[in-house]
Amino acid sequence: MAAIEIKKDIYWVGVVDWNIHDFHGYSKSPQGTTYNAYLVIDDKVTLFDSVPAKFQMELYHQIRSVIELDKIDYIVCNHIEPDHSGAMPFLMDKIRPEKVFCSKLGHRMLLDHYHQPEWPYHPVQTGDSISLGKRTVQFLETRMVHWPDSMFSYIPEDKLLISNDGFGQNIASSERFDDEVDLAMLMAESSHYYHNIILPFSQRVTAVLDEVAKLGLEIDMIAPDHGIIWRSNVPLILEAYRDYAAQKPNKKALIVFDTMWHSTEKMAKAIAEGLMEEGVAARIMHLKQYHHSDVMGAMADATGIICGSPTHNNGIMPLMADFLTYMKGLKPVGRVGAAFASFGWSGESLNILTEWLKSAKIEVVEPGVKCKNVPDHDKLAECKELGRQVGKAIVAKVEAQA
Ligand code: FEO
Repeated sequence: MAAIEIKKDIYWVGVVDWNIHDFHGYSKSPQGTTYNAYLVIDDKVTLFDSVPAKFQMELYHQIRSVIELDKIDYIVCNHIEPDHSGAMPFLMDKIRPEKVFCSKLGHRMLLDHYHQPEWPYHPVQTGDSISLGKRTVQFLETRMVHWPDSMFSYIPEDKLLISNDGFGQNIASSERFDDEVDLAMLMAESSHYYHNIILPFSQRVTAVLDEVAKLGLEIDMIAPDHGIIWRSNVPLILEAYRDYAAQKPNKKALIVFDTMWHSTEKMAKAIAEGLMEEGVAARIMHLKQYHHSDVMGAMADATGIICGSPTHNNGIMPLMADFLTYMKGLKPVGRVGAAFASFGWSGESLNILTEWLKSAKIEVVEPGVKCKNVPDHDKLAECKELGRQVGKAIVAKVEAQA
């Protein structure tokens, strides 16, 4: 993809990773992704962020289509994760910049990653700014959104926020702007990205949004380091981030299960009926059909999380253990849950699931339902009643916040 001028003398020089489906080893990215880097042509020519090492030659050609690399004066590293800094050793060799700007924690991380103490680091913090000539760059640290070193760069003269991972999405496309792609798809990918990568840091997200508002930054373009650039829907994505971070309750529930001989699956369907009777929308997801990151994407929009597994070797099914580990790490808040389980002889899985949900700080409706072998009519009625109980708890939560 050729470099694209996104504002006068400011170029997208990123790389499209068309076929990556495994993002950072833990999240699915079925639409691929991009690694966006931005080049500002001013008295001090400045490159913002880079790309993974394996794409460094693509970045090289992108930059050279605008300017020779040795004309670059400054590099800004908003974040040191290797998808944005992997090309740094190559770039430093080619560019030999006068200065490398990063946060203080970014400085430490660059040293830890690349072991090059002689690079011309200039650590910055919130409130610091530099002049590029006609333009200024203001730095805003965004610690834990989503790494300790993360920061935004803001160019007031262009009302441009270069936001690194914030406001990103995993979309590989030839289009670069939000008004060139389907908005519903873009928002869905934005939500999927947030709920798999940024969710645990939601309190920090709210604080950063407050800080941006307090600073009165005028923003007419948000240029993230993944996916599509926001220029026609800036207020929409800012508001969406407030909503994602708030995790307000809604009348929706997910039933997530794994099964061997379909007893747990039958229980899931009966629980869904109970939820629906209470006016709560239900979605059933079988972990053999959905990756854990897709379940988290669906959980974005669900206050209820009800988990089911047969007992397997005195434990729970492996995919359920995988999902619970992943979900707990993402620290969702304000959720209501319950457990259900089938078993043949020992039957530990109900307690294991219940304790997992509690350890993830989910409000658990107990005691859940346990079924020996195959559920009969009465056992399915018990499942339906569990669905009703969870449904009532969800509705109460929604009404309490209305
Ligand atoms: Fe896109 Fe945290 O790296």
